[in-house]
Amino acid sequence: MLHLKTVKTIKSELLNLKDKKIALIATMGALHQGHLALIKKAKQIADFVIVSIFINPLQFSPNEDLNKYPKTLENDLELCAKEKANLVFSPSAEEIYPQGQNITKIIADSKLSNCLCGISRPQLFNGVLTIVLKLFNIIKPDIACFGEKDYQQLLIIKKMIFDLNLDIEIYPVEIIRDLDGLALSSRNKYLTKEQRLEALKIPKTLLTAKDLIQKGQNPEEVIKNLWDPCFEYFEARNPETLKKTNDFPLRLFICGHIGNTRLIDNVEI
Ligand code: PAF
Repeated sequence: MLHLKTVKTIKSELLNLKDKKIALIATMGALHQGHLALIKKAKQIADFVIVSIFINPLQFSPNEDLNKYPKTLENDLELCAKEKANLVFSPSAEEIYPQGQNITKIIADSKLSNCLCGISRPQLFNGVLTIVLKLFNIIKPDIACFGEKDYQQLLIIKKMIFDLNLDIEIYPVEIIRDLDGLALSSRNKYLTKEQRLEALKIPKTLLTAKDLIQKGQNPEEVIKNLWDPCFEYFEARNPETLKKTNDFPLRLFICGHIGNTRLIDNVEI
């Protein structure tokens, strides 16, 4: 497995791969089974799988966890090699933003981004799209896999691809959960043992709500009855438009704060 850190070296390596189907798995590192599921999916459909590892400062607001975001590069490289990724690209912030953050940015579709995580994290999706488009332009993948845990991010990236006529096929990959139901996230590393248990109320609430809605209860009522003070949001939205809805098709979204850790999860109904 190759490990490259500069735009120049990866571009030169890519010259040898012109006839290969290339897949990109964009990550911020601290890899877990959720990321590995993306690599596994990519291995099935592409000839050459590239994992990028870059903690993108552009998508963090000043009060967020940029400085404490887990960095586990050695372990990440081992995991990528085990999954038979072909190349890991782990550039520095200076390599990606040589002129700092005062750069041209992509603005996310407002209907998809002015809700759910976009409310409390106003920089998130413009920052995500800007780095994702930069990675697409550097790597020129045919395919990219993104996880459904960041469902809103997935829709917003798909919309950018449509709006900007990018020739990249997006493959969504289902949420991977621990045995107890907690959705895997790099941020689970912040949780103490007690908080880890407390965090289970997020997937449990989603499952209970799913069950009650499938039995015919009104989503709005269910959400009101199952509301917990740690929730930043708990909403039923249309899975394509993210419009609030009380009708099928719908997807339930929760963001909860466990101690200082902000966790998100969602479930299809
Ligand atoms: O989902 C993530 O880890 C990040 O938002 C992404 C897509 C790698 C962009 O920095």
